[in-house]
Amino acid sequence: MRITFFDAKSYDTESFDAIKANYPDLELEYWEAELNPKTAAYVTDSEAVCAFVNANAGADTLRVLASRGVKLLLMRCAGYNNVDLEAATANGIKVMRVPGYSPEAVAELAMTLASAVNRHIHKAYIRVRENNFSLQGLTGKNFYGKTAGIIGTGKIGAAMARICRGYGMRVLGYDKYPNKSLDFVEYVSLEQLLRESDLISLHCPLMKETYHMINIFTINQMKDGVILVNTSRGGLIDTNDLIQGIRERKFSGVGLDVYEEEKDNVFENHEDDIMMHSVTSRLLSFPNVIVTSHQGFFTEEALAAIAETTLGNAEAYLKGEKAGTELN
Ligand code: NAI
Repeated sequence: MRITFFDAKSYDTESFDAIKANYPDLELEYWEAELNPKTAAYVTDSEAVCAFVNANAGADTLRVLASRGVKLLLMRCAGYNNVDLEAATANGIKVMRVPGYSPEAVAELAMTLASAVNRHIHKAYIRVRENNFSLQGLTGKNFYGKTAGIIGTGKIGAAMARICRGYGMRVLGYDKYPNKSLDFVEYVSLEQLLRESDLISLHCPLMKETYHMINIFTINQMKDGVILVNTSRGGLIDTNDLIQGIRERKFSGVGLDVYEEEKDNVFENHEDDIMMHSVTSRLLSFPNVIVTSHQGFFTEEALAAIAETTLGNAEAYLKGEKAGTELN
């Protein structure tokens, strides 16, 4: 079976090529183009396509893919909020994903962002390079003895909870389905978590009910001087409300690996472009905000696990077996 990869970067081809010899029934074809209705129309002789997190896998794209003979969409990521699963099913396309390739990769980035904004590493790095060894304005706070609030305590949230415990923090959790194995986490209401946490980290999926769960109302419930980290999905936070909260000095720091509008930026070099998105520009202008470009997943271990599970998914599909990663 041939798999056409969309949005294939050098790090994708390296990690997939490293193991493709173990999957002799699969032929891999790498395209740099991103997946959308136009590019989907060029797929030829591929029963499967493989796409990444911000791909356009809406109804139009899926219809075109089906018309090109595609029967399998392999998402090489965990989140699938960009895939119209109903349309996939209606068009006879099976969708599979990589549910938990390395929760620690994302959780470690969440704590990196929290620590970096807390201790102003982004400023300290630049200062010292400019021969400025002043500490003025770089005061942080100990995380030890403080309270961490984890919203969504699934695989990544659980890893983040363990990291916070390692820092000596009290750990609060909010989840619709509490994780019984996390016996050190105190499950509380969202209101209590917002009210008591010094560090809030978002790890629940983006769905209708979680869209803009962080808005001016929930921001106002937070402690003054809170640190907010989002490594989950941009749509969990109403960015305009976040900007208002930042301007009202609610936060001592904000770390964002994901944000609304990221789709036009992520994974590409735009250094010579004029930024057209004023919301993103505003976010980037604040001294206590660190933005990274959706790199939570980006470790050697995670890339290797993504490649392994994705090709394993394709093979299970070929053999008519269940992989347990099917979304429809
Ligand atoms: P998971 O499915 O293991 O955990 C999600 C948790 O959120 C579950 O415990 C679930 O019960 C909970 N949840 C669902 N609805 C909720 C609600 N309304 N309120 C509170 N909690 C709710 O997922 P996992 O693997 O931990 O991933 C979490 C998210 O991280 C993914 O949905 C994805 O968006 C994001 N992600 C980001 C990456 C990055 O590179 N920055 C990489 C991988 C995932």
